[in-house]
Amino acid sequence: MGKYNFDEKIDRRNTDSIKWDFGMQRKGRDDLLPLWVADMDFRLPEEVIDDIVGRAQHGVFGYTDPGEGYYRPVKDWYEKRHGFRPESKWITVVPGVVYAIACAIRAFTEPGDAVIIQQPVYYPFEGTIKANSRKVVNSQLVYRDGRYEIDFEDFEKKIADNDVKLFLLCSPHNPVGRVWTRQELTRLADICREHDVYIFADEIHSDFVYKGHQHVSFMTLGDQYYSKLIVGTSASKTFNLAGLQIANIFTPDEKVGSAFRAVNDANGYSQPNVLGMVATKSVYENGEQWLDELLEYLAGNRDYVRNFLAEKLPKVKMVEPEGTYLIWLDFSGITQDKDELKEIIEDKARLWLDPGIIFGRETALFERVNIACPRAILEQAMEQLCKALTE
Ligand SMILES: Cc1ncc(COP(=O)(O)O)c(C=O)c1O
Repeated sequence: MGKYNFDEKIDRRNTDSIKWDFGMQRKGRDDLLPLWVADMDFRLPEEVIDDIVGRAQHGVFGYTDPGEGYYRPVKDWYEKRHGFRPESKWITVVPGVVYAIACAIRAFTEPGDAVIIQQPVYYPFEGTIKANSRKVVNSQLVYRDGRYEIDFEDFEKKIADNDVKLFLLCSPHNPVGRVWTRQELTRLADICREHDVYIFADEIHSDFVYKGHQHVSFMTLGDQYYSKLIVGTSASKTFNLAGLQIANIFTPDEKVGSAFRAVNDANGYSQPNVLGMVATKSVYENGEQWLDELLEYLAGNRDYVRNFLAEKLPKVKMVEPEGTYLIWLDFSGITQDKDELKEIIEDKARLWLDPGIIFGRETALFERVNIACPRAILEQAMEQLCKALTE
């Protein structure tokens, strides 16, 4: 029995939660069980809550800047959990990783330039490239025997053919759950170096890796890659601080860092949110056991879904995740029609999932399920799905 109780169901309604409170606005109904957006339904350790409340009780919330007291726990965390120690001057604190992606697009490409992604992938990658009037180039991940792989020849050809300037890497990969190996990452890095392509490595999911796999940070591939590298990290995914709007961006090369910060300045952003800073510092200092127990719990949730599907709905295939708390389900054994799939998921099963089509055109028959919820909610969701498919 662990110290933390992830089975506790916490009512998140009426907290302005995007996941629980906006069914009417976003879906026109509020009867759907939400397992979509990547945030978690768990309560943080009391020490963290106490730190936030303690700071709030001070009652003065003027401009705040990160100093060593903030950077040290961030650096300690990356040294301990990921095998490298960033220097303070490499870190830029911004409101979010997607915000940082937008900054990188503006800093390292011009309007009309090509940016490469690997779909199916977290949909703001495509959206942010387009919103900044750049061209999206996709090197589709290959789905083979229930697993996703990189087609390196296609990746290199697309870069060369389109004169790609920037690569947005998702590592670990949302939604397919791959934890890229050092070999795969080095091959991508070498292709980008050969073709002078900047890399934004979005490593926001790096703390969620299941046993038998190891996250390899792009920071550890070698300093020969630093001159074109930006790494996006945040405690917001690991410890569910998305509402506190804070992320740490690593740029080990001075020139890359100042180009990135110039765009951040041009956007008019300066000091970070003080409660985001307090929370980040506190989770990195107090949250390690919580995270280790959470990883066990999530592995249990993943096993539950795998076993449930194998036993009750064998035509729905789960792509085995190596990391992240997101599960990618293949419904092509059920239907070939994405509208029918939507009807099954929403009207019959009454679930709010993320449909595969938003992650890329070729994955309309997939759904992404967020398993970072109490087991009882996941059980309810699976039962509703089973009923919808067997009735
Ligand atoms: C790959 C990836 N990057 C970024 C984000 C969001 O980061 P932020 O809220 O810091 O913009 C998410 C959230 O789900 C994500 O999955």
